[in-house]
Amino acid sequence: MENLMNKIVSLCKRRGFIYPGSEIYGGFSAVYDYGPYGAELVNAIKREWWKNMVQLRDDIVGLDSAIFMHPKIWEASGHVAGFSDPLVECKKCHIRSRVDHLLAEIGVEADEKMSEEEINKIFSKNKNNLKCPNCGQNDFTDVSKFNLLVKSNLGNFTDNWEKEPVYLRGETCQGIYVNYKNVLDSARVRIPFGIAQIGKAFRNEITARQFLFRTREFEQMEMQYFVHPNEEMKEYEKLREARWQYYLNLGFKEENLKWNKHKNLVFYAREAYDIEYNFPFGFDELEGVHARGNYDLSQHSNFSGKDLSYFNSEKKKKYIPHIIESSVGVGRTVFAVLTEAYTEEEIDGEVRIVMKFPKNLSPIKVAIFPLLRNKPDLVKKAKEIYDDLKKEHMCEFDDNGNIGKRYRRQDEIGTPFCVTIDFESLEKNDVTVRDRDTTKQERIKIGELKEYLKEKIKI
Ligand code: GAP
Repeated sequence: MENLMNKIVSLCKRRGFIYPGSEIYGGFSAVYDYGPYGAELVNAIKREWWKNMVQLRDDIVGLDSAIFMHPKIWEASGHVAGFSDPLVECKKCHIRSRVDHLLAEIGVEADEKMSEEEINKIFSKNKNNLKCPNCGQNDFTDVSKFNLLVKSNLGNFTDNWEKEPVYLRGETCQGIYVNYKNVLDSARVRIPFGIAQIGKAFRNEITARQFLFRTREFEQMEMQYFVHPNEEMKEYEKLREARWQYYLNLGFKEENLKWNKHKNLVFYAREAYDIEYNFPFGFDELEGVHARGNYDLSQHSNFSGKDLSYFNSEKKKKYIPHIIESSVGVGRTVFAVLTEAYTEEEIDGEVRIVMKFPKNLSPIKVAIFPLLRNKPDLVKKAKEIYDDLKKEHMCEFDDNGNIGKRYRRQDEIGTPFCVTIDFESLEKNDVTVRDRDTTKQERIKIGELKEYLKEKIKI
């Protein structure tokens, strides 16, 4: 499995999906940049999520709130006091590690939400069996809690900015909570309804590892659904079901998904499940689906002094809505989609690497090749077809090397269709279309090509 991880990371770099951040300066830990095909994949994933969450739903609207927010928001949300990971430092090599991760390595469960005292107790009991993941020594400091919020000096022109920081948002949903009333007053929504948003979030992760799984800058796709307290659990079950089905529709194999029910709920939560995916290092959290009670709106109501209750005009009743949420990282989805798609198979005695993305997620939908680059008639015809198809799909024109080499390149970036213009095309006005998954080729009339591809790709 470690091997699969290396293969995916290497393909991503080699083929322009994902690069380590700031690479020419020696890299920048836990930050990644998306290359040309990565950017296409990210956009396709976000488009698919938005379509599913907003476009196809009558009861959910979109939002795009700012990264910078009033610092009080992070006090109200509990992040300033409690958004922290338990950390120890190796006294030999000074590498810091998350205690819950070190304990998990030896099969001891600890929860990041435990108090410093509780986790110190578990740590002391198991300390002798732990090893520093960097140098292998067993000499640690005591546990301390490390706050994950990233500070900035925005708008603070004194030297005091460390004490009065403006934070970069640690999760996107706070922007939803603080705009709940705006949306209610300006959009045509009534409870139950949801607000969805996609955007960047920042966390000072201690141990950033496992490629895109845990990064310090990442994007979240979050939907917060506002419900009557009595409806919370019914709506929660509906959301769980919808989110499971979403991944199946995205082409994930069901055996690569599982539910993980939280054992230690935070005090306000009614229920919490994660959808876990079978990443190359094993099952881990892909998405959280949580029933959060009325905690979020109550907190913001108390801290802001604004009434955030909902008035049911038919029943003449006021209440603070409860919230159920779906929250997933774009990067984790990209990683899962890459894992799901990575395939090595033997074709005619040769091993090929092929990314079997669902067609609507493929960065390039159609590649167009003239059979030979030194035949102007073939190149001209191929260019005409390319210019026409690119109005509808992301396309690539390639006349470099033999056809076999061009197919292999497109297989590695997951292009579902390759169109070749050969000598017969000039006479019969048709092309060959090669299917990525079956490698079978069909001759299609140029006049019918657009419709043929549209039907097959179906975005
Ligand atoms: N609003 C709830 C919330 O933010 P979370 O479990 O901290 O909950 C939700 O994060 C999702 O965001 C995770 O399931 C994961 O997909 C993604 N995520 C969280 N931290 C991440 C990180 N450091 N790097 C990449 N993705 C992350």
